[in-house]
Amino acid sequence: MCGIIGYIGTRDATPLLIEGLRRLEYRGYDSAGIAYLSEGRLKIQRAVGKLSSLEAVLSRDLSPSHLGIGHTRWATHGKPTEENAHPHRAGAIALIHNGIIENYRVLRDTLVASGRDFSSETDTEVIAHLIDRRYQTGVSFKQAVSETLTQIEGSFALCIICEDEPQQMIAVRRGSPLTIGMGSKEFFVASDVQAFVAQTSEAIFLDDGEMAHFSDNGVCFYDAEGRSQSKQATTLSHDQSFTGKGTFRHFMQKEIHEQSRAIMDTLFGRVSQQAEAVCPDDLIQAAPSLGKVDLARSRRILLVGCGTSWHSALIGKFFFEAIAGIPTEVDIASEFRYRNPPLSKGDLLIATSQSGETADTLAALREAQIKGVQTLAICNVVGSTLSREAGRVLYTRAGPEIAVASTKAFTTQLVAFFLLACFFGQTRKTLPVKLRKQLVRELLAIPHKIDILMAQEQAVATIAKQYFRCRDFLFLGRNLHYPVALEGALKLKEVSYIHAEGYPAGEMKHGPIALIDEHMPVVVIVPRDHVREKVISNIMEVKARDGKIIAVTHGDDAEAAALADAVISTPEVSPYLSPILTVIPLQMLAYHVALLRGSDIDQPRNLAKSVTVE
Ligand code: F6R
Repeated sequence: MCGIIGYIGTRDATPLLIEGLRRLEYRGYDSAGIAYLSEGRLKIQRAVGKLSSLEAVLSRDLSPSHLGIGHTRWATHGKPTEENAHPHRAGAIALIHNGIIENYRVLRDTLVASGRDFSSETDTEVIAHLIDRRYQTGVSFKQAVSETLTQIEGSFALCIICEDEPQQMIAVRRGSPLTIGMGSKEFFVASDVQAFVAQTSEAIFLDDGEMAHFSDNGVCFYDAEGRSQSKQATTLSHDQSFTGKGTFRHFMQKEIHEQSRAIMDTLFGRVSQQAEAVCPDDLIQAAPSLGKVDLARSRRILLVGCGTSWHSALIGKFFFEAIAGIPTEVDIASEFRYRNPPLSKGDLLIATSQSGETADTLAALREAQIKGVQTLAICNVVGSTLSREAGRVLYTRAGPEIAVASTKAFTTQLVAFFLLACFFGQTRKTLPVKLRKQLVRELLAIPHKIDILMAQEQAVATIAKQYFRCRDFLFLGRNLHYPVALEGALKLKEVSYIHAEGYPAGEMKHGPIALIDEHMPVVVIVPRDHVREKVISNIMEVKARDGKIIAVTHGDDAEAAALADAVISTPEVSPYLSPILTVIPLQMLAYHVALLRGSDIDQPRNLAKSVTVE
């Protein structure tokens, strides 16, 4: 949510800022802007809408610079207008911000009363005024920033420059993520390593409350109390680097197609083909200070996440209960932290997140840690706040997910949950050896089955052509496929803006059935397991009311095909693993419907990929 980038060094800053913003645009695209120092003057250029609008403005007027900051905005306070676009300036100070300043009203009123004029409706502008006001008293730039930080409440990642200090830049974080790219005689500041990984692979992750001060002497780090810190750089691996769309029209389509490769990476080194077992050594990375904790002995598991990650957690619950025999609860992260759940020492909280930066998920993790509960992260982005704060992390290794709508993050999370449940079941002896071997064999066959499933894309596109003008969709599933129905509905609404609901098929008769008529397409996931007959009955109920059935089946299913208006079959697999396959046609359906409706698939309106505000 909002992407920020800063550069200080020997090269021309603006092309690097623009390239960085391009890689951060998934974080928000309501407006974009840059500020840079050129010939001793601070210059700011901003434009409403996507980065391309800013580029169009920039091409008219750009002078060389070695210091600058850039921002791509997801609007919180104030509409997406040029006045509200970052960077914001007050006097000699210009800054960019990701986060929310909670006490900005009081601060703004005080500043206005003291004669300060505001040019935007944002919470951010107060920070620029506060720093400038201090700076005008004669203290140093760094001192002015430090003193201001004591006044502001909320979450922020800031990158600040000063017209009088062409050799200085300051970056600071509280709550929102910030990383430093360490180049040769140059430094980058960014919300995410994606912004600079093409320039340098050496990164330093700022911890909460920390500040980085760049000057002639290089960079110095300080903790929240202003004490000097020494920080270790991490070398970023190649799989964290941003890649283009290749031959695909959109990142979403590319990422749907990457799922086979992504799952192979999730499995790599974590499953022994010979022993047909899960290898614990490579499964979970733990901070050395945490020692060896036997997570498998947890008495209860609590799963938290948001959006798609919450849906994968709903399926994870089935795995932990059925395979490892551990009672498991699932919460939406934003609900968990405010309902004050009773937690006890034997609990294990698993926080799941693609980005590892979702504010609600981080808050849930911190809440659990305060209450003394063991924590683990299932996360995609290496070095993200969640992965570092959880102490233990199982990386999903999906690779960069650029499209705002999550696809490969979901299926790799399912594989991660499954591996963990099998490992716990192995350790607790709740998973019979014969079944374990069968499941591991099936798991290893999943990437190939996904490759087979990809051949269905044309058939899905044909179905999309029939239904893309519909106003509403219903998605039904039971058991493990209820969360798949939720995910199918979420994907469709995100990228096509069609109203869609996911429902447990058995609940339909308790209300949603009232919506069904001849205009309503109902996507039903038809399983091969013990609830199959119930789902077939639900299809009959829809048909009796003239609803249109799109069936997602396991293998060739003549019975379902005879009842449905359209069928997409997925390769047969163990019922546990089938959500990994059945969700893929739903992702494709959302993509092709959105394509026909002409929506902005990779950057749907109002959304941002990394939701770093509550
Ligand atoms: C849906 C989607 C969102 C995210 C949610 C959590 O396609 O992308 O619902 O799943 O914002 O994000 P992470 O997983 O990064 O915590």
